[in-house]
Amino acid sequence: MPSAPKTLRTERLHLHVWDDTDAPELRALLDANDAHLRPWIPFMRHEPRDLAGTREVIASCRASFDAGEHYRYAVRERENGALVGETMLIGRGPAGSMEAGYWLDAGAVGKGYATEATAALVPVAFDVLGLEWVELHCDVRNDASIAVARRLGAVRVRVDRIEEDGRAVDLGIWRIDR
Ligand SMILES: CC(C)(COP(=O)(O)OP(=O)(O)OC[C@H]1O[C@@H](n2cnc3c(N)ncnc32)[C@H](O)[C@@H]1OP(=O)(O)O)[C@@H](O)C(=O)NCCC(=O)NCCS
Repeated sequence: MPSAPKTLRTERLHLHVWDDTDAPELRALLDANDAHLRPWIPFMRHEPRDLAGTREVIASCRASFDAGEHYRYAVRERENGALVGETMLIGRGPAGSMEAGYWLDAGAVGKGYATEATAALVPVAFDVLGLEWVELHCDVRNDASIAVARRLGAVRVRVDRIEEDGRAVDLGIWRIDR
């Protein structure tokens, strides 16, 4: 079965599969960005964790990467190695598709990094993994995320009303076709 590469390079960024050695930096970044990420990122429901819990998440990211289920990448600036966020392909949709996701350190927004990092996953999805389409799920109120989806060339195909923590959320389903 084809697998995504463990590292990728773009003009300004280095993407790599999460490693145990990243745990302290990831912990610090999530703690510093709690308010920025919590409204939009479902996994923030399980944060904050301690360092040991963060190591467990990283171990599970690596295991699912190796199993070809989810491909989650740390995103670093090439210039200085600073950890600035994450981009990913998550395998929870129908066969032939994966869901792209992304988040950035609040201090790293407005530079095009989310678009640049996630754009690197599109050829991986189609040319390496042989997928038919990539989905992006953006809360209809999340303008910054919607702008990334648009810049990636995604088209909104529908809006799903889901329930999150007991409240209704309208989730725009965006799609990039092969
Ligand atoms: C969603 C999120 C990653 C978007 O971040 P972002 O920085 O706005 O998006 P990009 O990194 O693609 O940057 C685009 C911006 O950088 C600007 N930019 C500056 N220099 C640039 C460059 N060299 N190349 C490209 N764009 C550049 C663009 O003009 C654009 O600015 P604008 O928003 O004023 O139009 C960020 O808001 C975030 O982390 N939000 C919380 C988590 C979240 O919502 N994740 C998505 C869940 S679905």
